[in-house]
Amino acid sequence: MSKAALKPIDTNNLDAMWMPFSANRQFKRTPRLLVGAKDMHYTASDGRTILDGTAGLWCVNAGHCREPIVEAIRAQAAKMDFAPAFQMGHPTAFELAARLSQMAPADLGKVFFTNSGSESVDTALKIALAYHQVAGQATRKRLIGRSRGYHGVGFGGISVGGMVNNRKFFGALLPGVDHLPHTHLPARNAFSRGQPEHGAELADELERIVALHDASTIAAVIVEPCAGSTGYLPPPKGYLQRLREICTKYGILLIFDEVITGFGRLGAAFAAEHFGVIPDLMTVAKGISNATVPMGGVFVRKPVYETLMNGPENAIELFHGYTYSAHPLACAAASAVLDIYKTEGLFQRAAELSPYWEDAVHSLKSAPGVTDIRNLGLAAGIDLESRPGAAGARGYDTFVKAFELGVMVRQAGDALAMSPPLVIEKNQIDEIIDIVGKAIKQAA
Ligand SMILES: Cc1ncc(COP(=O)(O)O)c(C=O)c1O
Repeated sequence: MSKAALKPIDTNNLDAMWMPFSANRQFKRTPRLLVGAKDMHYTASDGRTILDGTAGLWCVNAGHCREPIVEAIRAQAAKMDFAPAFQMGHPTAFELAARLSQMAPADLGKVFFTNSGSESVDTALKIALAYHQVAGQATRKRLIGRSRGYHGVGFGGISVGGMVNNRKFFGALLPGVDHLPHTHLPARNAFSRGQPEHGAELADELERIVALHDASTIAAVIVEPCAGSTGYLPPPKGYLQRLREICTKYGILLIFDEVITGFGRLGAAFAAEHFGVIPDLMTVAKGISNATVPMGGVFVRKPVYETLMNGPENAIELFHGYTYSAHPLACAAASAVLDIYKTEGLFQRAAELSPYWEDAVHSLKSAPGVTDIRNLGLAAGIDLESRPGAAGARGYDTFVKAFELGVMVRQAGDALAMSPPLVIEKNQIDEIIDIVGKAIKQAA
Protein backbone atom coordinates (compact mmCIF):
# COMPACT_ATOMS: atom_id res chain seq x y z
CA MET A 1 0.00 0.00 0.00
CA SER A 2 1.38 3.43 -0.83
CA LYS A 3 2.27 5.89 1.89
CA ALA A 4 -0.33 8.35 0.60
CA ALA A 5 -3.12 5.82 0.99
CA LEU A 6 -2.29 5.42 4.68
CA LYS A 7 -2.44 9.13 5.39
CA PRO A 8 -5.70 10.11 7.12
CA ILE A 9 -7.57 12.87 5.28
CA ASP A 10 -7.89 16.03 7.31
CA THR A 11 -11.05 17.68 5.97
CA ASN A 12 -10.28 20.85 7.90
CA ASN A 13 -7.02 21.29 6.05
CA LEU A 14 -7.21 24.26 3.70
CA ASP A 15 -3.71 23.74 2.33
CA ALA A 16 -4.26 21.82 -0.89
CA MET A 17 -6.62 24.18 -2.65
CA TRP A 18 -5.25 27.17 -4.55
CA MET A 19 -8.13 29.59 -4.32
CA PRO A 20 -9.07 31.76 -7.32
CA PHE A 21 -8.85 35.57 -7.08
CA SER A 22 -8.08 35.29 -3.36
CA ALA A 23 -5.34 36.23 -0.94
CA ASN A 24 -4.70 32.56 -0.15
CA ARG A 25 -2.42 33.00 2.85
CA GLN A 26 -4.55 35.69 4.46
CA PHE A 27 -7.76 33.71 3.87
CA LYS A 28 -6.38 30.47 5.27
CA ARG A 29 -5.46 32.24 8.52
CA THR A 30 -9.02 33.53 8.99
CA PRO A 31 -11.29 31.59 6.63
CA ARG A 32 -14.86 32.44 5.76
CA LEU A 33 -16.65 29.24 4.84
CA LEU A 34 -20.17 28.91 3.47
CA VAL A 35 -21.95 25.61 4.01
CA GLY A 36 -25.55 26.19 2.93
CA ALA A 37 -27.86 28.55 1.05
CA LYS A 38 -31.59 29.17 0.72
CA ASP A 39 -33.41 32.01 -1.03
CA MET A 40 -31.76 35.28 0.15
CA HIS A 41 -29.34 33.75 2.65
CA TYR A 42 -26.16 31.79 3.05
CA THR A 43 -25.30 29.78 6.14
CA ALA A 44 -21.72 30.17 7.36
CA SER A 45 -19.76 27.29 8.91
CA ASP A 46 -20.23 28.83 12.36
CA GLY A 47 -24.01 28.56 11.90
CA ARG A 48 -24.62 32.25 11.23
CA THR A 49 -27.07 33.35 8.57
CA ILE A 50 -25.58 35.75 6.00
CA LEU A 51 -27.84 37.96 3.87
CA ASP A 52 -26.65 37.71 0.27
CA GLY A 53 -26.06 41.24 -1.01
CA THR A 54 -24.27 40.03 -4.16
CA ALA A 55 -26.38 37.18 -5.58
CA GLY A 56 -23.32 35.00 -5.03
CA LEU A 57 -21.12 36.61 -7.68
CA TRP A 58 -23.80 38.54 -9.59
CA CYS A 59 -25.34 35.24 -10.62
CA VAL A 60 -28.02 33.82 -8.30
CA ASN A 61 -30.73 36.17 -9.58
CA ALA A 62 -33.67 33.96 -8.58
CA GLY A 63 -32.34 33.26 -5.08
CA HIS A 64 -30.66 30.15 -3.73
CA CYS A 65 -31.62 26.48 -3.90
CA ARG A 66 -34.97 27.05 -5.58
CA GLU A 67 -36.90 23.80 -5.54
CA PRO A 68 -38.01 23.68 -9.22
CA ILE A 69 -34.41 24.20 -10.36
CA VAL A 70 -33.07 21.59 -7.96
CA GLU A 71 -35.75 19.17 -9.19
CA ALA A 72 -35.02 19.86 -12.88
CA ILE A 73 -31.31 19.15 -12.34
CA ARG A 74 -32.08 16.00 -10.35
CA ALA A 75 -34.46 14.70 -13.05
CA GLN A 76 -32.05 15.45 -15.90
CA ALA A 77 -29.12 13.82 -14.09
CA ALA A 78 -31.17 10.66 -13.71
CA LYS A 79 -32.43 10.71 -17.34
CA MET A 80 -29.33 11.65 -19.35
CA ASP A 81 -26.21 12.88 -17.60
CA PHE A 82 -24.24 13.96 -20.66
CA ALA A 83 -24.58 14.13 -24.42
CA PRO A 84 -21.88 15.24 -26.84
CA ALA A 85 -22.69 18.47 -28.62
CA PHE A 86 -20.40 18.03 -31.65
CA GLN A 87 -22.31 16.57 -34.61
CA MET A 88 -24.94 15.43 -32.05
CA GLY A 89 -27.71 17.17 -30.17
CA HIS A 90 -30.34 16.76 -27.48
CA PRO A 91 -33.82 18.28 -27.38
CA THR A 92 -33.41 20.28 -24.14
CA ALA A 93 -30.59 22.30 -25.71
CA PHE A 94 -32.59 23.21 -28.81
CA GLU A 95 -35.67 24.04 -26.72
CA LEU A 96 -33.60 26.28 -24.45
CA ALA A 97 -31.98 28.06 -27.41
CA ALA A 98 -35.43 28.65 -28.94
CA ARG A 99 -36.69 30.19 -25.69
CA LEU A 100 -33.61 32.38 -25.34
CA SER A 101 -33.92 33.44 -28.96
CA GLN A 102 -37.47 34.60 -28.25
CA MET A 103 -36.30 36.63 -25.26
CA ALA A 104 -33.43 38.23 -27.18
CA PRO A 105 -33.72 41.84 -28.29
CA ALA A 106 -34.14 42.51 -32.04
CA ASP A 107 -32.57 39.81 -34.22
CA LEU A 108 -30.00 38.51 -31.72
CA GLY A 109 -31.72 35.20 -32.26
CA LYS A 110 -28.88 32.68 -32.61
CA VAL A 111 -27.34 31.24 -29.46
CA PHE A 112 -23.96 29.49 -29.04
CA PHE A 113 -23.60 27.73 -25.67
CA THR A 114 -20.52 27.93 -23.44
CA ASN A 115 -19.88 27.21 -19.75
CA SER A 116 -18.77 30.55 -18.35
CA GLY A 117 -18.48 34.25 -18.99
CA SER A 118 -14.81 33.91 -19.95
CA GLU A 119 -15.65 31.30 -22.56
CA SER A 120 -18.51 33.43 -23.84
CA VAL A 121 -16.16 36.37 -24.34
CA ASP A 122 -13.52 34.35 -26.15
CA THR A 123 -16.26 32.79 -28.28
CA ALA A 124 -17.70 36.19 -29.22
CA LEU A 125 -14.26 37.58 -30.15
CA LYS A 126 -13.58 34.51 -32.31
CA ILE A 127 -16.98 34.75 -34.01
CA ALA A 128 -16.28 38.42 -34.79
CA LEU A 129 -12.91 37.59 -36.36
CA ALA A 130 -14.30 34.63 -38.31
CA TYR A 131 -17.25 36.70 -39.53
CA HIS A 132 -15.04 39.35 -41.11
CA GLN A 133 -12.81 36.72 -42.68
CA VAL A 134 -15.77 34.93 -44.28
CA ALA A 135 -17.36 38.27 -45.25
CA GLY A 136 -14.27 39.09 -47.33
CA GLN A 137 -12.81 41.61 -44.88
CA ALA A 138 -9.96 39.55 -43.51
CA THR A 139 -7.91 42.65 -42.67
CA ARG A 140 -10.30 43.36 -39.79
CA LYS A 141 -8.34 41.76 -36.98
CA ARG A 142 -8.10 44.42 -34.29
CA LEU A 143 -10.18 44.17 -31.14
CA ILE A 144 -11.08 47.18 -29.01
CA GLY A 145 -11.85 46.89 -25.31
CA ARG A 146 -12.06 49.51 -22.57
CA SER A 147 -10.06 50.51 -19.50
CA ARG A 148 -11.56 49.12 -16.28
CA GLY A 149 -13.42 46.53 -18.34
CA TYR A 150 -13.66 42.96 -17.10
CA HIS A 151 -14.26 40.18 -19.60
CA GLY A 152 -13.14 37.14 -17.67
CA VAL A 153 -9.77 35.47 -17.56
CA GLY A 154 -9.16 33.80 -20.92
CA PHE A 155 -6.37 35.32 -23.01
CA GLY A 156 -8.98 37.01 -25.21
CA GLY A 157 -10.82 38.39 -22.21
CA ILE A 158 -7.76 39.74 -20.41
CA SER A 159 -6.46 41.26 -23.65
CA VAL A 160 -9.58 43.34 -24.23
CA GLY A 161 -10.11 43.76 -20.47
CA GLY A 162 -8.80 46.82 -18.72
CA MET A 163 -7.86 45.82 -15.16
CA VAL A 164 -4.12 46.08 -14.68
CA ASN A 165 -3.61 43.23 -12.20
CA ASN A 166 -5.47 40.83 -14.48
CA ARG A 167 -3.05 41.69 -17.32
CA LYS A 168 0.38 42.60 -16.04
CA PHE A 169 1.52 39.09 -15.02
CA PHE A 170 0.58 37.35 -18.23
CA GLY A 171 2.88 38.47 -20.97
CA ALA A 172 2.13 40.31 -24.17
CA LEU A 173 -1.49 39.10 -24.49
CA LEU A 174 -3.28 39.22 -27.88
CA PRO A 175 -1.69 41.52 -30.46
CA GLY A 176 -3.68 44.28 -32.12
CA VAL A 177 -5.81 45.28 -29.15
CA ASP A 178 -6.62 48.88 -28.26
CA HIS A 179 -8.69 50.33 -25.42
CA LEU A 180 -11.29 53.04 -25.08
CA PRO A 181 -11.09 55.17 -21.93
CA HIS A 182 -13.31 54.16 -19.02
CA THR A 183 -16.33 56.24 -18.09
CA HIS A 184 -15.77 56.69 -14.35
CA LEU A 185 -15.71 60.48 -13.91
CA PRO A 186 -16.26 61.13 -10.19
CA ALA A 187 -15.17 64.77 -10.51
CA ARG A 188 -18.17 65.43 -12.77
CA ASN A 189 -20.61 62.67 -11.90
CA ALA A 190 -20.19 61.84 -8.20
CA PHE A 191 -23.33 60.52 -6.48
CA SER A 192 -25.27 60.26 -9.75
CA ARG A 193 -28.59 58.53 -9.40
CA GLY A 194 -28.94 56.16 -12.32
CA GLN A 195 -27.02 56.97 -15.50
CA PRO A 196 -24.53 59.81 -15.05
CA GLU A 197 -25.07 63.03 -17.03
CA HIS A 198 -21.52 63.50 -18.27
CA GLY A 199 -19.23 61.45 -20.47
CA ALA A 200 -21.12 60.46 -23.65
CA GLU A 201 -18.30 62.12 -25.60
CA LEU A 202 -15.88 59.44 -24.36
CA ALA A 203 -17.40 57.16 -27.03
CA ASP A 204 -15.87 59.49 -29.63
CA GLU A 205 -12.47 58.09 -28.65
CA LEU A 206 -13.41 55.29 -31.03
CA GLU A 207 -13.14 57.84 -33.84
CA ARG A 208 -9.56 58.54 -32.74
CA ILE A 209 -8.76 54.81 -32.73
CA VAL A 210 -10.31 54.45 -36.21
CA ALA A 211 -8.26 57.42 -37.44
CA LEU A 212 -5.12 55.81 -36.03
CA HIS A 213 -5.57 52.26 -37.40
CA ASP A 214 -8.21 52.65 -40.14
CA ALA A 215 -11.61 50.99 -39.88
CA SER A 216 -10.53 48.30 -42.34
CA THR A 217 -8.32 46.79 -39.59
CA ILE A 218 -10.89 46.79 -36.77
CA ALA A 219 -13.09 43.74 -36.16
CA ALA A 220 -15.01 44.51 -33.00
CA VAL A 221 -15.52 46.68 -29.95
CA ILE A 222 -16.43 44.95 -26.69
CA VAL A 223 -17.83 46.72 -23.62
CA GLU A 224 -19.91 45.86 -20.61
CA PRO A 225 -23.05 48.02 -20.83
CA CYS A 226 -22.58 48.57 -17.06
CA ALA A 227 -19.03 47.72 -16.02
CA GLY A 228 -19.20 45.62 -12.86
CA SER A 229 -15.88 44.43 -11.60
CA THR A 230 -14.30 47.74 -10.59
CA GLY A 231 -17.25 48.84 -8.51
CA TYR A 232 -20.24 49.14 -10.89
CA LEU A 233 -20.07 51.89 -13.48
CA PRO A 234 -23.37 52.61 -15.29
CA PRO A 235 -22.76 54.24 -18.69
CA PRO A 236 -23.16 58.01 -19.09
CA LYS A 237 -26.38 59.05 -20.79
CA GLY A 238 -26.05 58.68 -24.57
CA TYR A 239 -22.68 56.89 -24.41
CA LEU A 240 -23.80 53.47 -25.65
CA GLN A 241 -25.93 55.03 -28.38
CA ARG A 242 -22.88 56.93 -29.63
CA LEU A 243 -20.71 53.83 -29.55
CA ARG A 244 -23.36 52.00 -31.58
CA GLU A 245 -23.50 54.79 -34.16
CA ILE A 246 -19.74 54.87 -34.63
CA CYS A 247 -19.49 51.07 -34.92
CA THR A 248 -22.26 51.05 -37.54
CA LYS A 249 -20.64 53.91 -39.45
CA TYR A 250 -17.38 51.93 -39.81
CA GLY A 251 -18.70 48.36 -40.12
CA ILE A 252 -17.24 47.39 -36.73
CA LEU A 253 -19.12 44.73 -34.76
CA LEU A 254 -20.33 45.84 -31.33
CA ILE A 255 -20.23 43.22 -28.58
CA PHE A 256 -22.05 43.79 -25.29
CA ASP A 257 -20.69 41.68 -22.47
CA GLU A 258 -23.91 41.07 -20.54
CA VAL A 259 -22.50 38.47 -18.17
CA ILE A 260 -23.71 40.50 -15.17
CA THR A 261 -26.44 42.62 -16.76
CA GLY A 262 -28.22 39.75 -18.55
CA PHE A 263 -31.27 38.17 -16.96
CA GLY A 264 -32.86 41.01 -15.12
CA ARG A 265 -30.21 43.00 -13.27
CA LEU A 266 -31.40 46.29 -14.81
CA GLY A 267 -35.09 45.45 -14.70
CA ALA A 268 -35.22 44.11 -18.27
CA ALA A 269 -34.08 40.80 -19.70
CA PHE A 270 -30.91 42.42 -21.06
CA ALA A 271 -29.15 45.77 -20.78
CA ALA A 272 -29.47 46.08 -24.57
CA GLU A 273 -33.23 46.19 -24.08
CA HIS A 274 -32.99 48.55 -21.11
CA PHE A 275 -30.85 51.05 -23.03
CA GLY A 276 -32.50 50.49 -26.41
CA VAL A 277 -29.10 49.83 -28.01
CA ILE A 278 -28.69 46.63 -30.00
CA PRO A 279 -25.23 45.07 -30.22
CA ASP A 280 -24.19 42.57 -32.91
CA LEU A 281 -23.18 39.98 -30.36
CA MET A 282 -24.06 39.63 -26.70
CA THR A 283 -22.29 37.44 -24.16
CA VAL A 284 -24.11 35.96 -21.17
CA ALA A 285 -23.47 33.52 -18.30
CA LYS A 286 -24.26 33.62 -14.56
CA GLY A 287 -28.02 34.39 -14.38
CA ILE A 288 -28.75 32.18 -17.39
CA SER A 289 -28.71 29.14 -15.08
CA ASN A 290 -28.94 31.02 -11.78
CA ALA A 291 -25.37 29.69 -11.36
CA THR A 292 -26.66 26.27 -10.34
CA VAL A 293 -24.81 24.49 -13.15
CA PRO A 294 -22.12 26.49 -14.99
CA MET A 295 -23.43 27.85 -18.28
CA GLY A 296 -22.82 30.73 -20.65
CA GLY A 297 -23.75 31.71 -24.15
CA VAL A 298 -23.29 34.13 -27.01
CA PHE A 299 -26.28 35.69 -28.74
CA VAL A 300 -25.55 36.50 -32.36
CA ARG A 301 -27.47 38.65 -34.82
CA LYS A 302 -28.94 36.66 -37.66
CA PRO A 303 -26.93 38.38 -40.45
CA VAL A 304 -23.67 37.52 -38.67
CA TYR A 305 -24.75 33.90 -38.28
CA GLU A 306 -25.98 33.67 -41.85
CA THR A 307 -22.73 35.05 -43.23
CA LEU A 308 -20.91 32.21 -41.51
CA MET A 309 -23.33 29.58 -42.83
CA ASN A 310 -21.60 29.38 -46.19
CA GLY A 311 -19.58 26.83 -48.14
CA PRO A 312 -20.65 23.27 -48.79
CA GLU A 313 -23.36 21.94 -46.50
CA ASN A 314 -21.09 19.28 -45.02
CA ALA A 315 -18.51 21.87 -43.93
CA ILE A 316 -18.24 22.76 -40.24
CA GLU A 317 -18.88 26.49 -40.27
CA LEU A 318 -17.15 27.43 -37.01
CA PHE A 319 -14.28 25.36 -35.64
CA HIS A 320 -15.10 26.15 -32.05
CA GLY A 321 -16.96 24.55 -29.13
CA TYR A 322 -16.56 23.02 -25.70
CA THR A 323 -17.05 19.45 -24.47
CA TYR A 324 -19.65 20.87 -22.11
CA SER A 325 -21.38 23.26 -24.55
CA ALA A 326 -25.12 22.76 -24.00
CA HIS A 327 -24.51 20.31 -21.15
CA PRO A 328 -27.82 18.56 -20.40
CA LEU A 329 -27.78 19.50 -16.68
CA ALA A 330 -27.08 23.16 -17.49
CA CYS A 331 -29.83 23.21 -20.12
CA ALA A 332 -32.33 21.62 -17.73
CA ALA A 333 -31.37 24.07 -14.99
CA ALA A 334 -31.59 27.08 -17.32
CA SER A 335 -35.05 26.04 -18.56
CA ALA A 336 -36.30 25.85 -14.98
CA VAL A 337 -34.65 29.22 -14.24
CA LEU A 338 -36.37 30.88 -17.21
CA ASP A 339 -39.70 29.51 -15.92
CA ILE A 340 -39.09 31.15 -12.55
CA TYR A 341 -38.05 34.46 -14.09
CA LYS A 342 -41.27 34.44 -16.08
CA THR A 343 -43.80 33.14 -13.57
CA GLU A 344 -42.48 35.34 -10.75
CA GLY A 345 -41.96 38.37 -13.02
CA LEU A 346 -38.49 38.84 -11.56
CA PHE A 347 -37.18 41.29 -14.18
CA GLN A 348 -40.22 43.49 -13.60
CA ARG A 349 -39.71 43.10 -9.87
CA ALA A 350 -36.14 44.38 -10.22
CA ALA A 351 -37.45 47.39 -12.14
CA GLU A 352 -40.08 48.11 -9.47
CA LEU A 353 -37.62 47.78 -6.59
CA SER A 354 -34.87 49.86 -8.14
CA PRO A 355 -36.14 53.33 -6.98
CA TYR A 356 -36.33 51.99 -3.40
CA TRP A 357 -32.86 50.49 -3.82
CA GLU A 358 -31.54 53.79 -5.20
CA ASP A 359 -32.82 55.79 -2.21
CA ALA A 360 -31.46 53.18 0.19
CA VAL A 361 -27.92 53.05 -1.24
CA HIS A 362 -27.67 56.83 -1.54
CA SER A 363 -28.53 57.14 2.17
CA LEU A 364 -24.93 55.96 2.74
CA LYS A 365 -23.59 59.21 1.26
CA SER A 366 -22.74 60.65 4.67
CA ALA A 367 -20.99 57.50 5.94
CA PRO A 368 -17.29 58.16 6.73
CA GLY A 369 -14.94 58.11 3.74
CA VAL A 370 -17.61 57.54 1.07
CA THR A 371 -16.52 59.48 -2.03
CA ASP A 372 -19.03 58.24 -4.62
CA ILE A 373 -22.15 56.08 -4.92
CA ARG A 374 -23.52 54.75 -8.22
CA ASN A 375 -26.62 52.71 -8.97
CA LEU A 376 -28.69 51.38 -11.82
CA GLY A 377 -31.26 48.60 -11.71
CA LEU A 378 -30.72 46.40 -8.68
CA ALA A 379 -26.99 47.01 -8.29
CA ALA A 380 -24.76 49.67 -6.82
CA GLY A 381 -21.14 50.65 -6.33
CA ILE A 382 -19.64 52.62 -3.45
CA ASP A 383 -16.16 54.19 -3.54
CA LEU A 384 -14.29 54.57 -0.26
CA GLU A 385 -11.36 56.86 0.29
CA SER A 386 -8.14 54.83 0.27
CA ARG A 387 -5.94 54.79 3.35
CA PRO A 388 -2.63 56.50 2.63
CA GLY A 389 -0.19 53.98 1.17
CA ALA A 390 -2.63 51.08 1.58
CA ALA A 391 -4.89 50.94 -1.46
CA GLY A 392 -7.57 48.28 -1.03
CA ALA A 393 -7.14 47.81 2.73
CA ARG A 394 -10.18 49.84 3.68
CA GLY A 395 -12.34 48.08 1.09
CA TYR A 396 -11.21 44.69 2.35
CA ASP A 397 -11.79 45.56 6.01
CA THR A 398 -15.27 46.87 5.18
CA PHE A 399 -16.13 43.67 3.30
CA VAL A 400 -14.94 41.53 6.25
CA LYS A 401 -16.85 43.66 8.79
CA ALA A 402 -20.02 43.37 6.71
CA PHE A 403 -19.59 39.61 6.60
CA GLU A 404 -19.08 39.48 10.37
CA LEU A 405 -22.23 41.56 10.82
CA GLY A 406 -24.20 39.25 8.51
CA VAL A 407 -24.17 40.67 4.97
CA MET A 408 -22.15 39.60 1.94
CA VAL A 409 -20.93 42.37 -0.37
CA ARG A 410 -18.19 42.42 -3.05
CA GLN A 411 -14.98 44.34 -2.70
CA ALA A 412 -12.85 45.60 -5.57
CA GLY A 413 -9.95 47.60 -4.19
CA ASP A 414 -11.55 50.37 -2.17
CA ALA A 415 -14.88 50.04 -3.94
CA LEU A 416 -17.82 47.94 -2.77
CA ALA A 417 -20.36 46.42 -5.13
CA MET A 418 -23.81 45.17 -4.27
CA SER A 419 -26.14 43.18 -6.53
CA PRO A 420 -28.67 41.19 -4.51
CA PRO A 421 -30.90 38.42 -5.86
CA LEU A 422 -33.96 39.88 -7.59
CA VAL A 423 -36.23 38.17 -5.03
CA ILE A 424 -35.05 40.55 -2.31
CA GLU A 425 -37.67 42.18 -0.05
CA LYS A 426 -37.62 45.84 0.98
CA ASN A 427 -36.85 45.03 4.61
CA GLN A 428 -33.83 43.03 3.40
CA ILE A 429 -32.64 46.04 1.38
CA ASP A 430 -32.89 48.04 4.63
CA GLU A 431 -30.90 45.38 6.44
CA ILE A 432 -28.12 45.37 3.81
CA ILE A 433 -27.84 49.16 3.95
CA ASP A 434 -27.89 49.26 7.75
CA ILE A 435 -25.13 46.67 8.03
CA VAL A 436 -23.00 48.08 5.20
CA GLY A 437 -23.28 51.50 6.89
CA LYS A 438 -22.07 50.00 10.18
CA ALA A 439 -19.26 48.12 8.41
CA ILE A 440 -18.09 51.32 6.67
CA LYS A 441 -18.01 53.12 10.06
CA GLN A 442 -16.21 50.27 11.85
CA ALA A 443 -13.59 50.00 9.10
CA ALA A 444 -13.09 53.76 8.80
C1 LIG B 1 -18.74 41.28 -17.51
C2 LIG B 1 -18.11 39.96 -17.24
N1 LIG B 1 -17.63 39.24 -18.25
C3 LIG B 1 -17.07 38.03 -18.06
C4 LIG B 1 -16.97 37.50 -16.81
C5 LIG B 1 -16.31 36.18 -16.61
O1 LIG B 1 -17.21 35.21 -16.23
P1 LIG B 1 -16.70 33.82 -15.63
O2 LIG B 1 -16.12 34.10 -14.30
O3 LIG B 1 -17.97 33.00 -15.58
O4 LIG B 1 -15.72 33.26 -16.59
C6 LIG B 1 -17.47 38.22 -15.71
C7 LIG B 1 -17.37 37.66 -14.35
O5 LIG B 1 -17.67 38.31 -13.37
C8 LIG B 1 -18.04 39.49 -15.93
O6 LIG B 1 -18.49 40.24 -14.91
